[in-house]
Amino acid sequence: MAKTYKNIVILTGAGISAESGLATFRSENGLWNNHKVEDVATIEAYWKNPDYVHDFYNQMRPELMVAKPNKAHLALTELQDKYPSKINIITQNVDTLHEKAGNKNVWHIHGQINQIVCMNCGHVFETWGDISSEDVCPQCGIAAMLKPNIVFFGENLLYMDKVEKLLQTCDLFISVGTSGVVYPAAGFVQVAKFAGADTIEVNLEETSNNYLFDRHIYGKAGEVLPHLVQELIKQKEEA
Ligand code: APR
Repeated sequence: MAKTYKNIVILTGAGISAESGLATFRSENGLWNNHKVEDVATIEAYWKNPDYVHDFYNQMRPELMVAKPNKAHLALTELQDKYPSKINIITQNVDTLHEKAGNKNVWHIHGQINQIVCMNCGHVFETWGDISSEDVCPQCGIAAMLKPNIVFFGENLLYMDKVEKLLQTCDLFISVGTSGVVYPAAGFVQVAKFAGADTIEVNLEETSNNYLFDRHIYGKAGEVLPHLVQELIKQKEEA
């Protein structure tokens, strides 16, 4: 009998957005090849030179605002529409391509490029425009405390209580387009596996925690993920 699942968790990384034209972080022309992480993605860098950090994300916003979801994101919408089970998407990506594709239950553990958080009062608001240290929080009125709502190295991830519960109760964990080198996200597969989940990795190549995956599907996510989704839907229909 074909196996079916009740609680599916999908972890996505920059690789799922690559076919939408967005740069990943660690490929040869990745974001971390043209900027040092310690200059633009740490909380220390933000406090030391907030406007240098603001400029990095200000330049990123227009491209991400117009980016379009690709077949991989759309395949997840089809899975959520046609596979009757709880399907949650935990994404490390700060783009909004999952939402643009119609994906539901998306958890941005590293935050979102179109959100700003006030470091004084915690207020989060949306904008696709530029932010600088001159801007004032619309909630508390304090200036120079606005930061992209993006989790910097040295900060806590978002939604981790929810993520823990999802990982502890899932019976299928699918990782799509992540190099598996940044923790805690890189450790999620182990939590799921120890909780008894089947684990599948979708990537162009073998990754550093590939030993934790029961199955590897190598190829571009936009090409191979739709086939995996069809296989899962068919299994469910035949069950
Ligand atoms: N299809 C599938 N996988 C792909 C594709 C594609 N078209 N293109 C690239 N990949 C894979 C690469 O092989 C690589 O394993 O996507 C992965 C991208 O890895 P990274 O660039 O390291 O991005 P990611 O894993 O999302 O980084 C995690 O690191 O710097 C932090 O906050 C940042 O969220 C990011 C985190």
